[in-house]
Amino acid sequence: MEKDIEYILVSESDIATNVARLADEINDVYTSLGVDELIVIGLLNGSIVFLSDLIRKIHIPLSYDFMRVSSYGSGTVAGELNFKKDIEVDIIGKHVLIVEDIIDTGKTLSKVTELLANRGAASVKICTFLDKPERRVIPVDVDFQGVVIPDKFVVGYGLDYAEKYRQLPYIGVLKNSVWE
Ligand code: IMP
Ligand code: MG
Repeated sequence: MEKDIEYILVSESDIATNVARLADEINDVYTSLGVDELIVIGLLNGSIVFLSDLIRKIHIPLSYDFMRVSSYGSGTVAGELNFKKDIEVDIIGKHVLIVEDIIDTGKTLSKVTELLANRGAASVKICTFLDKPERRVIPVDVDFQGVVIPDKFVVGYGLDYAEKYRQLPYIGVLKNSVWE
């Protein structure tokens, strides 16, 4: 697995530093808003590694649930998503924090945010561990931004290529030879 990695972009210690910083920001923002209950919604499958690290540093009482969506292949309407698994919690009047592994084009998060806001959440905020702003097609308001990365395909810390490499403890750039 390691042999398929060109180089490490975000090391284990950089991940830990950024997770702690994001949790501090989340604690500060919601505390100052007087929010005493959060619903954390993770997008499967990529977000689970980050989510499990992050929630253990959040001090506001919370519950979590998961949603699975996938983008339609090329040639379909931009921004259209295939919802494969919905959350099971009621979010009416609740403060929702969406946790995502990476924002690329923004199609996934713009749709998910709209959907959750339309269900009557009191607030919907976004926390992403990685952000590739160069690739953005649809603007997304990121409330808690982890690490901004260049336009490279990365794996590890939950992110996959063909469902593999998710367990790598760092974020690495995949070698071109793996694609070919
Ligand atoms: P968006 O809708 O284009 O923002 O897509 C975001 C989703 O694409 C993420 O949740 C990932 O599943 C996937 N993705 C985007 N860039 C990468 C990458 O560099 N490595 C692995 N998955 C990625
Ligand atoms: Mg994903």
